Amino acid sequence: MADFTCTTPFLLYPSLVIILFFYSINHHNRFFSSVVDDDPSCRLSLSSSSSQEAVFSPFRFLPFRSSCLPALNNTSEEVAVVEEVDEAVERIEEGLAMARASIKKAREENLRRRRDRRNNSDMGFVSNGSVYLNAFTFHQSHREMEKRFKIWTYREGEPPLFHKGPLNNIYAIEGQFMDEIENGKSRFSAASPEEATVFYIPVGIVNIIRFVYRPYTSYARDRLQNIVKDYISLVSNRYPYWNRSRGADHFFLSCHDWVSLSLTYTRFLFPKLTGKSPRPNFPLCSLFFKAPDVSAVDPELYKHFIRALCNANASEGFAPMRDVSLPEINIQYGQLGFVHNGEPPENRKLLAFFAGGSHGEVRKILFEHWKEKDKDVLVYENLPKTMNYTKMMDKAKFCLCPSGWEVASPRIVESLYSGCVPVIIADAYVLPFSDVLNWKSFSVHIPISKIPEIKKIIEAISEEEYLKMQRGVLKVRKHFVVNRPSKPFDMLHMIMHSIWLRRLNVRIPLS
Ligand SMILES: *[C@@H]1O[C@H](CO)[C@@H](O)[C@H](O)[C@H]1NC(C)=O
Ligand SMILES: *[C@@H]1O[C@H](CO)[C@@H](O)[C@H](O)[C@H]1NC(C)=O
Ligand SMILES: *[C@@H]1O[C@H](CO)[C@@H](O)[C@H](O)[C@H]1NC(C)=O
Ligand SMILES: *[C@@H]1O[C@H](CO)[C@@H](O)[C@H](O)[C@H]1NC(C)=O
Ligand SMILES: *[C@@H]1O[C@H](CO)[C@@H](O)[C@H](O)[C@H]1NC(C)=O
Ligand SMILES: *[C@@H]1O[C@H](CO)[C@@H](O)[C@H](O)[C@H]1NC(C)=O
Ligand SMILES: *[C@@H]1O[C@H](CO)[C@@H](O)[C@H](O)[C@H]1NC(C)=O
Repeated sequence: MADFTCTTPFLLYPSLVIILFFYSINHHNRFFSSVVDDDPSCRLSLSSSSSQEAVFSPFRFLPFRSSCLPALNNTSEEVAVVEEVDEAVERIEEGLAMARASIKKAREENLRRRRDRRNNSDMGFVSNGSVYLNAFTFHQSHREMEKRFKIWTYREGEPPLFHKGPLNNIYAIEGQFMDEIENGKSRFSAASPEEATVFYIPVGIVNIIRFVYRPYTSYARDRLQNIVKDYISLVSNRYPYWNRSRGADHFFLSCHDWVSLSLTYTRFLFPKLTGKSPRPNFPLCSLFFKAPDVSAVDPELYKHFIRALCNANASEGFAPMRDVSLPEINIQYGQLGFVHNGEPPENRKLLAFFAGGSHGEVRKILFEHWKEKDKDVLVYENLPKTMNYTKMMDKAKFCLCPSGWEVASPRIVESLYSGCVPVIIADAYVLPFSDVLNWKSFSVHIPISKIPEIKKIIEAISEEEYLKMQRGVLKVRKHFVVNRPSKPFDMLHMIMHSIWLRRLNVRIPLS
């Protein structure tokens, strides 16, 4: 059952090593340009990551479709799949087809209204779309999601390693999402698997690291996908759902760098989960990761599986057309988020601010050029005792959000909460919700190579442009607020919407 190969999906897509992040900024207008029609022909091959089309497809609303899934061969097991399941799939697929059609209609409606500018004034929530790539399409898609999206969580596995995640600190989004879906109150929880649009693999990476990994070994950046893989083996043997879609309607969510742990898992957790003993040669795995032919080991498993990750590093194989970028948010104990207005723009006298540890290469470069060196761009490793972090963000115009150990930074959400325009310093970072939000309208992006020019770049932004971005920040931040229970358009709904979009791209083949 459990095959102890050490493939990493991050190495499967060498040709996806592109700077999607900056692509998204420059080409955002093209997003939504090719909306679904129910044309069964498959324009994109899932595996042809070398083609232009495939590489840029994340910025299309529905980049690929069911017929792209290679035909499932008739195996004895598949023939045995009960008819009921097929009927259920058929029902769900019909619903999704209607959703696609209505989203497409909204887009056309939008185009029509754009032509008639006079009518642009009274559209409420989606009034002028500037913080959205396409407000109408998004709004309609969100509505369809509320109507039809149902998540079935597999019941296998015991808490706290499964079904539980941290509700606080910087990986909090993992636990908050799990809890929201599993506490039985969410409108998105499916009552039965037959009703499910997507299937959730409820592996809690943070807790595994806390309870299993930390006590035994020192922290090393190994790979952890085997736990997910074994869980999938388990459920794909027990139920027909994984096999029928090859995982394209299954997802997994983790804010921690989930790839960092296979070794411990196989030594300590695998035996607990399965009652089998791990293979003795396991430590050799780390060598395999560097093998050039690693992608040949198990390319199938993660090909379609949706991974929702904070570490949305396109250079490490994060594939935006299939994977979901999660915002990182630092939730303090007892408070879900601290949205405050900060100072109004005219009182923000401080040009730019950052305070944070020297984690990772990007911070190192930042400190080299800016640490306590400039009176307008204030950069601290240790914030002076006389300063209050939140208050500094509240009175800065721009807040620097450099990558840390990983591309994501909780500072992006903190800046939005403070009404401070985020300056995202990262390469290859696929921003959260970048399939619907027009990040360019409320944030600044600086590639790592331009760190020395931070001040020049920020100073070149006109007051008018700044004011526009600041308004964008205030407008967009509702999408970054965590509510429990979740409310429409808040962060948890946005995450579900990201998963929903990826599910909309796939049609499960009927029998
Ligand atoms: C499925 O069947 C086709 C043709 O019958 C064959 O070419 C292909 O190799 C099969 N795929 C798998 C994974 O068995
Ligand atoms: C799959 O099964 C159907 C009917 O059972 C048969 O007509 C078809 O040829 C089979 N396809 C393959 C690739 O075996
Ligand atoms: C614009 O609005 C008016 C009334 O508010 C309506 O009669 C008209 O059909 C609208 N035009 C378009 C193109 O939606
Ligand atoms: C968007 O709406 C705001 C007010 O809601 C307005 O100030 C701004 O100029 C509008 N932007 C565009 C591009 O129409
Ligand atoms: C799913 O496919 C795997 C591998 O091909 C197989 O071992 C398993 O039995 C299948 N599951 C079901 C429920 O048919
Ligand atoms: C910093 O300021 C915020 C609000 O302005 C306040 O809630 C917080 O307690 C302050 N923190 C410290 C350490 O003083
Ligand atoms: C993103 O991935 C690339 C390739 O593995 C790596 O070099 C880079 O350091 C990563 N970025 C961050 C911030 O970890």
